[in-house]
Amino acid sequence: MNKVTVLGSLNVDTILRFKRFPKPGETLPLAGKSIAGGGKGANQAIAAARAGAQTTFIGKVGQDQEGEFMTHQLTASGVDDRYVLHSDAANTGSAFILLDNSSENRILIDGGTNQQVSPTDVEAAQEAIVDSDFLVAQFETPVAATVRGFELAHAAGKRTILNPAPATKTVPRELLAVTDLIIPNETETETLTGVAVTDEYSMVQGAEKLQALGVQNVIITVGSKGAFWMRGPEHGFVPAYKVHAVDTTAAGDTFIGALSAVLTPDFSNLAEAVRWANRASSLAVQHLGAQPSIPTKAEIDAAERI
Ligand code: RIB
Ligand code: NA
Repeated sequence: MNKVTVLGSLNVDTILRFKRFPKPGETLPLAGKSIAGGGKGANQAIAAARAGAQTTFIGKVGQDQEGEFMTHQLTASGVDDRYVLHSDAANTGSAFILLDNSSENRILIDGGTNQQVSPTDVEAAQEAIVDSDFLVAQFETPVAATVRGFELAHAAGKRTILNPAPATKTVPRELLAVTDLIIPNETETETLTGVAVTDEYSMVQGAEKLQALGVQNVIITVGSKGAFWMRGPEHGFVPAYKVHAVDTTAAGDTFIGALSAVLTPDFSNLAEAVRWANRASSLAVQHLGAQPSIPTKAEIDAAERI
Protein backbone atom coordinates (compact mmCIF):
# COMPACT_ATOMS: atom_id res chain seq x y z
CA MET A 1 0.00 0.00 0.00
CA ASN A 2 1.48 3.38 -0.98
CA LYS A 3 1.91 6.16 1.51
CA VAL A 4 0.85 9.45 -0.07
CA THR A 5 1.08 12.99 1.27
CA VAL A 6 -0.94 15.67 -0.50
CA LEU A 7 -0.08 19.34 -0.07
CA GLY A 8 -2.83 21.64 -1.28
CA SER A 9 -6.18 23.39 -1.12
CA LEU A 10 -9.50 22.69 0.55
CA ASN A 11 -12.62 24.46 -0.71
CA VAL A 12 -16.28 24.29 0.17
CA ASP A 13 -17.90 24.01 -3.27
CA THR A 14 -21.24 25.65 -3.97
CA ILE A 15 -22.63 24.05 -7.10
CA LEU A 16 -25.14 26.08 -9.08
CA ARG A 17 -27.01 24.27 -11.84
CA PHE A 18 -29.01 26.15 -14.47
CA LYS A 19 -30.17 25.77 -18.06
CA ARG A 20 -28.22 28.70 -19.47
CA PHE A 21 -26.24 31.72 -18.33
CA PRO A 22 -28.36 34.85 -17.78
CA LYS A 23 -27.78 37.70 -20.21
CA PRO A 24 -26.64 41.07 -18.77
CA GLY A 25 -29.61 42.48 -16.82
CA GLU A 26 -31.54 39.20 -16.95
CA THR A 27 -32.70 37.12 -13.95
CA LEU A 28 -33.19 33.35 -14.20
CA PRO A 29 -34.18 30.61 -11.72
CA LEU A 30 -31.62 28.00 -10.71
CA ALA A 31 -32.27 24.35 -11.57
CA GLY A 32 -30.45 23.33 -8.38
CA LYS A 33 -28.03 24.39 -5.70
CA SER A 34 -25.85 22.11 -3.57
CA ILE A 35 -22.82 22.19 -1.30
CA ALA A 36 -20.00 19.65 -1.37
CA GLY A 37 -16.41 19.26 -0.23
CA GLY A 38 -13.88 20.30 -2.86
CA GLY A 39 -10.53 21.93 -3.51
CA LYS A 40 -8.00 20.24 -5.77
CA GLY A 41 -5.74 19.23 -2.89
CA ALA A 42 -8.46 17.76 -0.70
CA ASN A 43 -10.08 16.02 -3.69
CA GLN A 44 -6.78 14.36 -4.61
CA ALA A 45 -6.15 13.28 -1.01
CA ILE A 46 -9.62 11.77 -0.69
CA ALA A 47 -9.21 10.02 -4.04
CA ALA A 48 -5.87 8.54 -2.90
CA ALA A 49 -7.30 7.39 0.44
CA ARG A 50 -10.45 5.88 -1.10
CA ALA A 51 -8.26 4.10 -3.68
CA GLY A 52 -6.36 2.47 -0.84
CA ALA A 53 -3.36 4.71 -0.05
CA GLN A 54 -2.35 5.64 3.49
CA THR A 55 -2.86 9.37 3.04
CA THR A 56 -1.84 12.52 4.91
CA PHE A 57 -2.92 16.07 4.04
CA ILE A 58 -1.00 19.33 4.48
CA GLY A 59 -3.09 22.49 4.19
CA LYS A 60 -4.83 25.30 6.01
CA VAL A 61 -8.43 26.11 6.95
CA GLY A 62 -10.01 29.04 8.78
CA GLN A 63 -11.47 28.92 12.27
CA ASP A 64 -14.97 28.73 10.83
CA GLN A 65 -17.69 26.15 10.16
CA GLU A 66 -16.36 25.61 6.65
CA GLY A 67 -13.01 24.60 8.12
CA GLU A 68 -14.74 22.08 10.40
CA PHE A 69 -16.71 20.75 7.45
CA MET A 70 -13.59 20.33 5.31
CA THR A 71 -11.47 18.58 7.94
CA HIS A 72 -14.41 16.26 8.54
CA GLN A 73 -14.52 15.40 4.82
CA LEU A 74 -10.85 14.39 5.02
CA THR A 75 -11.04 12.30 8.17
CA ALA A 76 -14.32 10.62 7.13
CA SER A 77 -12.40 9.16 4.17
CA GLY A 78 -9.47 8.12 6.35
CA VAL A 79 -7.12 10.99 5.49
CA ASP A 80 -4.78 11.97 8.35
CA ASP A 81 -5.47 15.66 9.11
CA ARG A 82 -2.78 16.26 11.75
CA TYR A 83 -0.97 18.71 9.43
CA VAL A 84 -4.08 20.72 8.58
CA LEU A 85 -3.50 24.06 10.28
CA HIS A 86 -6.29 26.31 11.55
CA SER A 87 -5.79 30.05 11.08
CA ASP A 88 -7.93 32.99 12.12
CA ALA A 89 -6.20 35.24 9.57
CA ALA A 90 -8.67 34.35 6.79
CA ASN A 91 -11.72 32.28 5.90
CA THR A 92 -11.65 28.70 4.61
CA GLY A 93 -11.41 28.56 0.80
CA SER A 94 -14.56 28.37 -1.27
CA ALA A 95 -15.42 27.69 -4.88
CA PHE A 96 -18.52 28.46 -6.96
CA ILE A 97 -19.09 25.88 -9.64
CA LEU A 98 -21.33 26.93 -12.50
CA LEU A 99 -22.94 24.05 -14.39
CA ASP A 100 -25.08 24.94 -17.37
CA ASN A 101 -26.38 22.42 -19.89
CA SER A 102 -23.00 22.09 -21.60
CA SER A 103 -20.72 19.43 -20.16
CA GLU A 104 -17.93 21.88 -19.25
CA ASN A 105 -18.02 23.59 -15.84
CA ARG A 106 -16.82 27.10 -14.91
CA ILE A 107 -15.34 27.78 -11.49
CA LEU A 108 -14.81 30.95 -9.42
CA ILE A 109 -12.55 30.70 -6.39
CA ASP A 110 -12.05 32.55 -3.13
CA GLY A 111 -8.66 31.14 -2.01
CA GLY A 112 -8.90 32.22 1.64
CA THR A 113 -6.55 30.29 3.94
CA ASN A 114 -5.26 28.19 1.01
CA GLN A 115 -3.30 31.29 0.01
CA GLN A 116 -1.54 31.35 3.37
CA VAL A 117 0.16 27.96 3.32
CA SER A 118 3.84 28.77 3.84
CA PRO A 119 7.19 26.97 3.46
CA THR A 120 7.37 26.93 7.28
CA ASP A 121 4.01 25.13 7.46
CA VAL A 122 5.37 22.53 5.07
CA GLU A 123 8.57 22.10 7.09
CA ALA A 124 6.41 21.36 10.13
CA ALA A 125 5.06 18.35 8.19
CA GLN A 126 8.50 17.04 7.19
CA GLU A 127 7.97 13.81 9.13
CA ALA A 128 4.98 12.89 6.96
CA ILE A 129 6.74 13.89 3.74
CA VAL A 130 9.86 11.81 4.31
CA ASP A 131 7.72 8.85 5.37
CA SER A 132 5.68 8.88 2.12
CA ASP A 133 6.25 7.27 -1.27
CA PHE A 134 4.78 10.30 -3.03
CA LEU A 135 4.23 13.98 -2.31
CA VAL A 136 1.47 15.43 -4.52
CA ALA A 137 0.76 19.16 -5.05
CA GLN A 138 -1.22 21.57 -7.28
CA PHE A 139 -1.33 25.35 -7.84
CA GLU A 140 -4.16 26.38 -5.49
CA THR A 141 -1.64 26.92 -2.68
CA PRO A 142 1.49 29.14 -2.91
CA VAL A 143 4.25 27.75 -5.10
CA ALA A 144 6.99 28.60 -2.55
CA ALA A 145 5.42 26.08 -0.15
CA THR A 146 5.34 23.43 -2.87
CA VAL A 147 8.99 24.02 -3.79
CA ARG A 148 9.95 23.52 -0.13
CA GLY A 149 7.89 20.34 0.14
CA PHE A 150 9.32 18.86 -3.05
CA GLU A 151 12.87 19.68 -1.88
CA LEU A 152 12.25 17.89 1.42
CA ALA A 153 10.80 14.88 -0.40
CA HIS A 154 13.75 14.69 -2.80
CA ALA A 155 16.30 15.07 -0.01
CA ALA A 156 14.74 11.93 1.51
CA GLY A 157 14.74 10.07 -1.82
CA LYS A 158 10.95 10.29 -2.19
CA ARG A 159 8.97 10.99 -5.39
CA THR A 160 6.98 14.09 -6.28
CA ILE A 161 3.87 14.57 -8.45
CA LEU A 162 2.83 18.02 -9.69
CA ASN A 163 -0.63 18.80 -11.06
CA PRO A 164 -0.05 22.28 -12.58
CA ALA A 165 -3.68 23.35 -12.10
CA PRO A 166 -5.18 25.87 -12.39
CA ALA A 167 -3.04 26.77 -15.40
CA THR A 168 -0.28 29.31 -14.91
CA LYS A 169 2.39 30.44 -17.34
CA THR A 170 5.13 30.88 -14.79
CA VAL A 171 6.18 27.60 -13.24
CA PRO A 172 9.54 28.19 -11.57
CA ARG A 173 12.39 26.12 -13.04
CA GLU A 174 13.41 25.22 -9.48
CA LEU A 175 10.05 23.47 -9.00
CA LEU A 176 10.29 21.46 -12.22
CA ALA A 177 13.82 20.44 -11.23
CA VAL A 178 12.38 18.60 -8.20
CA THR A 179 9.27 17.22 -9.95
CA ASP A 180 9.32 13.53 -10.95
CA LEU A 181 5.90 13.33 -12.60
CA ILE A 182 3.84 16.22 -13.99
CA ILE A 183 0.12 15.79 -14.81
CA PRO A 184 -1.35 18.69 -16.82
CA ASN A 185 -4.57 18.60 -18.85
CA GLU A 186 -4.61 19.85 -22.45
CA THR A 187 -5.10 23.53 -21.51
CA GLU A 188 -2.34 23.42 -18.91
CA THR A 189 -0.03 21.62 -21.37
CA GLU A 190 -0.51 24.40 -23.91
CA THR A 191 0.02 27.10 -21.26
CA LEU A 192 3.25 25.47 -20.07
CA THR A 193 4.76 24.41 -23.39
CA GLY A 194 3.05 26.47 -26.12
CA VAL A 195 2.07 23.18 -27.83
CA ALA A 196 -1.65 22.93 -28.65
CA VAL A 197 -2.80 19.40 -27.84
CA THR A 198 -4.73 18.14 -30.86
CA ASP A 199 -3.48 14.59 -31.49
CA GLU A 200 -1.02 12.04 -30.14
CA TYR A 201 1.86 13.62 -32.07
CA SER A 202 1.28 16.97 -30.33
CA MET A 203 1.11 15.17 -26.98
CA VAL A 204 4.55 13.66 -27.64
CA GLN A 205 5.85 17.15 -28.52
CA GLY A 206 4.33 18.73 -25.39
CA ALA A 207 5.65 15.93 -23.17
CA GLU A 208 9.15 16.20 -24.68
CA LYS A 209 9.17 19.92 -23.86
CA LEU A 210 8.26 19.13 -20.25
CA GLN A 211 11.03 16.53 -20.15
CA ALA A 212 13.47 19.11 -21.47
CA LEU A 213 12.47 21.29 -18.48
CA GLY A 214 13.62 18.48 -16.20
CA VAL A 215 10.54 16.28 -15.57
CA GLN A 216 11.13 12.71 -16.71
CA ASN A 217 7.58 11.40 -16.37
CA VAL A 218 4.58 13.11 -17.97
CA ILE A 219 0.86 12.37 -18.13
CA ILE A 220 -1.41 14.62 -20.21
CA THR A 221 -5.08 14.11 -19.34
CA VAL A 222 -7.49 14.84 -22.18
CA GLY A 223 -10.89 14.64 -20.53
CA SER A 224 -13.38 12.29 -22.15
CA LYS A 225 -10.73 11.16 -24.66
CA GLY A 226 -8.37 9.58 -22.14
CA ALA A 227 -4.78 10.09 -21.01
CA PHE A 228 -1.35 10.14 -22.65
CA TRP A 229 1.73 9.00 -20.70
CA MET A 230 5.44 9.34 -21.34
CA ARG A 231 8.29 7.83 -19.29
CA GLY A 232 11.73 8.58 -20.69
CA PRO A 233 11.44 7.73 -24.40
CA GLU A 234 8.46 5.37 -23.94
CA HIS A 235 4.91 6.63 -24.39
CA GLY A 236 1.34 5.50 -24.96
CA PHE A 237 -2.27 6.61 -25.02
CA VAL A 238 -4.99 5.07 -22.85
CA PRO A 239 -8.51 5.83 -24.11
CA ALA A 240 -11.15 6.83 -21.56
CA TYR A 241 -14.18 4.70 -20.78
CA LYS A 242 -17.32 5.85 -22.55
CA VAL A 243 -19.74 6.95 -19.86
CA HIS A 244 -22.54 9.47 -19.45
CA ALA A 245 -20.98 12.49 -17.69
CA VAL A 246 -23.19 14.31 -15.17
CA ASP A 247 -20.50 16.55 -13.63
CA THR A 248 -16.81 16.46 -14.57
CA THR A 249 -15.71 18.45 -11.47
CA ALA A 250 -12.81 16.60 -9.80
CA ALA A 251 -12.40 14.08 -12.63
CA GLY A 252 -8.74 15.10 -12.93
CA ASP A 253 -8.29 15.11 -9.15
CA THR A 254 -9.75 11.61 -8.91
CA PHE A 255 -7.37 10.45 -11.64
CA ILE A 256 -4.33 11.85 -9.81
CA GLY A 257 -5.29 10.55 -6.36
CA ALA A 258 -6.12 7.05 -7.62
CA LEU A 259 -2.91 7.00 -9.67
CA SER A 260 -0.78 7.90 -6.64
CA ALA A 261 -2.29 5.00 -4.71
CA VAL A 262 -1.12 2.34 -7.18
CA LEU A 263 1.92 3.80 -8.93
CA THR A 264 5.22 2.14 -8.04
CA PRO A 265 7.84 4.69 -6.90
CA ASP A 266 10.12 3.67 -9.83
CA PHE A 267 7.24 4.51 -12.26
CA SER A 268 7.67 1.13 -14.00
CA ASN A 269 3.90 0.44 -13.95
CA LEU A 270 2.96 3.91 -15.26
CA ALA A 271 0.80 2.65 -18.17
CA GLU A 272 -1.08 0.21 -15.94
CA ALA A 273 -1.58 2.88 -13.26
CA VAL A 274 -3.00 5.27 -15.88
CA ARG A 275 -5.52 2.61 -16.91
CA TRP A 276 -6.63 2.18 -13.27
CA ALA A 277 -6.84 5.94 -12.72
CA ASN A 278 -8.91 6.36 -15.91
CA ARG A 279 -11.40 3.90 -14.51
CA ALA A 280 -11.62 5.88 -11.26
CA SER A 281 -12.28 9.18 -13.02
CA SER A 282 -14.87 7.61 -15.34
CA LEU A 283 -16.82 6.75 -12.17
CA ALA A 284 -16.40 10.25 -10.67
CA VAL A 285 -17.92 12.04 -13.68
CA GLN A 286 -21.15 10.07 -13.32
CA HIS A 287 -22.08 11.85 -10.06
CA LEU A 288 -22.69 15.43 -8.99
CA GLY A 289 -20.15 17.20 -6.79
CA ALA A 290 -16.41 16.81 -6.26
CA GLN A 291 -15.82 14.72 -3.14
CA PRO A 292 -19.19 12.89 -3.09
CA SER A 293 -18.35 11.50 -6.56
CA ILE A 294 -14.89 10.05 -5.79
CA PRO A 295 -14.97 6.22 -5.90
CA THR A 296 -13.51 3.70 -3.43
CA LYS A 297 -11.08 0.93 -4.36
CA ALA A 298 -13.95 -1.59 -4.23
CA GLU A 299 -15.98 0.51 -6.68
CA ILE A 300 -13.01 0.89 -9.03
CA ASP A 301 -12.35 -2.87 -8.90
CA ALA A 302 -16.02 -3.62 -9.55
CA ALA A 303 -15.97 -1.34 -12.60
CA GLU A 304 -13.15 -3.40 -14.16
CA ARG A 305 -15.24 -4.53 -17.07
CA ILE A 306 -16.73 -1.19 -18.11
O1 RIB B 1 -10.62 20.41 -9.46
C1 RIB B 1 -11.90 20.67 -8.97
C2 RIB B 1 -11.86 21.63 -7.82
O2 RIB B 1 -11.38 22.86 -8.28
C3 RIB B 1 -13.18 21.94 -7.18
O3 RIB B 1 -13.52 21.04 -6.16
C4 RIB B 1 -13.06 23.39 -6.73
O4 RIB B 1 -13.00 23.53 -5.34
C5 RIB B 1 -11.80 23.88 -7.40
O5 RIB B 1 -10.77 24.02 -6.49
NA1 NA C 1 -18.16 14.55 -10.27
